[in-house]
Amino acid sequence: MLKGKKILVGITGGIAAYKIPLLVRLLRKAGAEVKVVMTPAAKDFVTPLTLSTLTGHPVWSDFFNPADGSWHSHVELGLWADLFVIAPVTATTLGKMHHGIADNLLLATYLSARCPVMLAPAMDLDMYKHPSTTNNIKALEQYGNIIIAPGSGELASGLCGEGRMEEPENIFQRIKDFLAFDKMFEGKKVLITAGPTYEPIDPVRFIGNHSSGRMGIEIAKVFANRGAKVTLVLGPTQLSVNHPSIELLPVTTAVEMFEACMALSQTSDIMVMSAAVADYRPLKPSDKKIKKQDENLSLELVKNPDILKTLGRNKKSGQMLVGFALETDNAVENARIKLTTKGADLIVLNSLADEGAGFGHNTNKVSLITAEATEHLPLMPKSEVAAHIADKINRMLLQLQ
Ligand code: CTP
Repeated sequence: MLKGKKILVGITGGIAAYKIPLLVRLLRKAGAEVKVVMTPAAKDFVTPLTLSTLTGHPVWSDFFNPADGSWHSHVELGLWADLFVIAPVTATTLGKMHHGIADNLLLATYLSARCPVMLAPAMDLDMYKHPSTTNNIKALEQYGNIIIAPGSGELASGLCGEGRMEEPENIFQRIKDFLAFDKMFEGKKVLITAGPTYEPIDPVRFIGNHSSGRMGIEIAKVFANRGAKVTLVLGPTQLSVNHPSIELLPVTTAVEMFEACMALSQTSDIMVMSAAVADYRPLKPSDKKIKKQDENLSLELVKNPDILKTLGRNKKSGQMLVGFALETDNAVENARIKLTTKGADLIVLNSLADEGAGFGHNTNKVSLITAEATEHLPLMPKSEVAAHIADKINRMLLQLQ
């Protein structure tokens, strides 16, 4: 699985750097080719000699080779790698990565790399919890990086808590899992909707909902990381994503979302409708701000087109259509009805009842409903829910063959 894979390991200056030779050893033993780029500060924690001995390659750290003045190309390193794993990543490096400050070779390599990037942050618990760190991590995740969240445990400071780099064995496992699925959806075109829709009432007001679009964005990232070409039709949200295999189509209203999906549906192999589409829109949005007048104001609403249902009706053989359902009562029963009425192959049932699930959370608890079975998944990060959904779709596609 790792045989012949080119893994670039980046090391920054944190105490957990002393564990990275073990990660390199595990990767080499599994047949991967490994190169190491480290920040100058990392050399205080682990020696380049150890790493060059383990990798069989020189270790890159400076822009220039001091011996002969030759230039070290960060672009070449970035293009060489199938995967760039940076572990440990300090708070400082996270900040520089977020803001594009390329003041060492590792950061310049990061900015020019075209391969997927995994980050394993490590720092003291208070640094980890600081809003500037959490914001940096959030932003880097949105840029398409894969975050290997630190665990809890004893820290170098003597304190105990969150911030401890994930153990090398577990980072190795994450790399293996990631590369195992690497090209699972190679050649597939995937259409995904995410986020809310805003239905204008007048130029300053709209009917909307609390969807952040995070679940759909995570699904888009999983498909893109596994080789698919993804088009993400994204309603108005603060979140975004930057990935070479994701084309972002921002829309505002349900009708715009509908039109974008209709234009793309014929050429899509897999369609995942995770957007929280407004069911109704004001019939006649006012072109001027509505002034406050009477005690009551009635808005006449008209039904929006049902994107999922229309796609279900026009589905070609071999196409896979996935819908979401948000139910408060008789959840499974209602989701099953949606499966048939909307012509979907799979419905992902969202739970609103469980703590940590649904709108605005980073975690979600869903059930996967097909004509044959219902699978209840536990509460987990949305990135993992996305991976489960992609796995399920892959299994269903294999059954179709
Ligand atoms: N959906 C859609 N177009 C709409 C409404 C919903 O494509 N106009 C899709 C959603 O993206 C989701 C699925 O339909 O995949 C179910 O959405 P949900 O809001 O749970 O169901 P509704 O069809 O709106 O039915 P109800 O509100 O009565 O539960």
